[in-house]
Amino acid sequence: MSSQDIQRLQELRRKALEGGGQERIEDQHKKGKLTARERLDLLLDPGSFEELGMFVKHRSTDFGLDKQKFLGDGVVTGYGTVDGRPVAVFSQDFTVFGGSLSEAHAEKICRVMDHALKVGIPVIGLNDSGGARIQEGVVSLGGYADIFLRNTLASGVVPQISAIMGPCAGGAVYSPAITDFVVMVKHTSYMFVTGPNVVKTVTHEDVSFEDLGGAMTHATKSGVAHFAAENEGECLETIKKLLSYIPSNNVDDAPVVDMGDDPDRRDEKLDSLIPENPNKPYDMKEVIKAVMDSGEFLEVHELFAPNIIVGFARLDGHTVGIVANQPSVLAGVLDIDSSVKGARFVRFCDAFNIPLIVFEDVPGFLPGTDQEWRGIIKNGAKLLYAFCEATVPRVTVITRKAYGGAYDVMNSKHIRGDMNFAWPSAEIAVMGPKGAVEIIFRKEISASQDKEAAIAAKVAEYRDKFANPYIAAERGYVDEVIAPSETRPRLIKALHFLRNKVDSNPKKKHGNIPL
Ligand code: HXC
Repeated sequence: MSSQDIQRLQELRRKALEGGGQERIEDQHKKGKLTARERLDLLLDPGSFEELGMFVKHRSTDFGLDKQKFLGDGVVTGYGTVDGRPVAVFSQDFTVFGGSLSEAHAEKICRVMDHALKVGIPVIGLNDSGGARIQEGVVSLGGYADIFLRNTLASGVVPQISAIMGPCAGGAVYSPAITDFVVMVKHTSYMFVTGPNVVKTVTHEDVSFEDLGGAMTHATKSGVAHFAAENEGECLETIKKLLSYIPSNNVDDAPVVDMGDDPDRRDEKLDSLIPENPNKPYDMKEVIKAVMDSGEFLEVHELFAPNIIVGFARLDGHTVGIVANQPSVLAGVLDIDSSVKGARFVRFCDAFNIPLIVFEDVPGFLPGTDQEWRGIIKNGAKLLYAFCEATVPRVTVITRKAYGGAYDVMNSKHIRGDMNFAWPSAEIAVMGPKGAVEIIFRKEISASQDKEAAIAAKVAEYRDKFANPYIAAERGYVDEVIAPSETRPRLIKALHFLRNKVDSNPKKKHGNIPL
């Protein structure tokens, strides 16, 4: 080998690192965006990135493409480590044909996905693309389909995380949509199936890119985005944080992180958290933070359907997935969005063997024509189905209301909740006391002189009899009534006990979750 051979290699590498050239890199920076490689530098441990396919070029000749070739063809792919753990990555390079997806570009992404699946490591995709490479036509569409197939086959085997750091439009949105988590960057990213111009033509609506498909739109309205980051740095940090809670695949354990928080720590303030008045709200996040290691909680879908809370935390160093009703939003009622949000999270945790902790204070399902006509029946059933099929350790704490069908749904023992605790403030009943007495004592109430007083008396009687955890405990539907302050040590002991739990579902091709 001559020194010229080495020089040639170095020259090609230098050229590949330039992407679409200095001018386009400057344009990218002017838009407040980093380049594909700068993003990987921030995401991965220093010096850990091993690139694959640096010299790949497209094979198109139409529309003058034969004269425009860039090494790497608009996507940087390879593997590296995050906090020492291997991950597979692809990072679309907007400076090359707007990051658009060609046949060769798609092949590069598929190659790292195939590797990731074989070795059992997460796939992280940094998306910044004008969509299908228009000059390539159907070949590019085929490339997308190849990716969608791999996204689907990898689902539940290795975690898949998508960062949206620029455009992501048309059918291209369906790759991130299949992945487990989507992180969008505010103001510089957007996702939509059809852009504002097509929307204007078809529905005559005037809508901006941001309103139609910006980070806040998808984090609050559609639920497509699990996280909305202030900037690219925060987006990449969120991915790292997320990775710290989850295992690399569906057979490995999540990392154990000792936060130095005493497993026997009690929190006396929880004993006075529940208001005397059962109709008064309180913040369930206070419960979560008081109980979990060092009060740390990575909330997922924080801005979407906030009447249910989902996210990751640790108990005695081990990752847990939390699903909790939030009494301070819509009284913690279950509606369509919160049911779907909860179901998707439960299924992620179950697929990756992350134990579930449920904090329950739920007055039931949200009534009304809007909910019924849009399918609260089939959507509520998703959450029920997700809990029913989950075989990971599952522990419930009923803090206050567990009413009606929602009692069953929220990880009750009847659907294989392993260990179910209730605080003394728990009210486990078919419905709230007022609604109940108005039905069962209707005749007596309407015959009485003072209806309000009659209702109040019957409500008191009903509450005394049913609005407590002891009837459920008598039946064994609740394993233990515990003081709120002892929740943390109780949960940690329960999880230790359940650590080697083995459970399974009947053999089948797959179930048919009510979609
Ligand atoms: C080829 C593309 C491209 C594309 C952008 N470019 N999109 N090249 N195919 N899809 C090129 C531009 O020609 C330009 O090249 C460079 O990328 C930067 O693009 P600009 O338009 O200058 O950038 P900007 O103003 O920031 O606008 C970005 C954009 C716009 C909004 C993404 O480029 C755009 O609308 N592109 C087309 C989007 C689209 O319709 N894609 C197809 C969607 S359908 P130069 O050489 O000047 O730097 C789809 C189907 C997928 O994706 C189906 C899967 C099932």
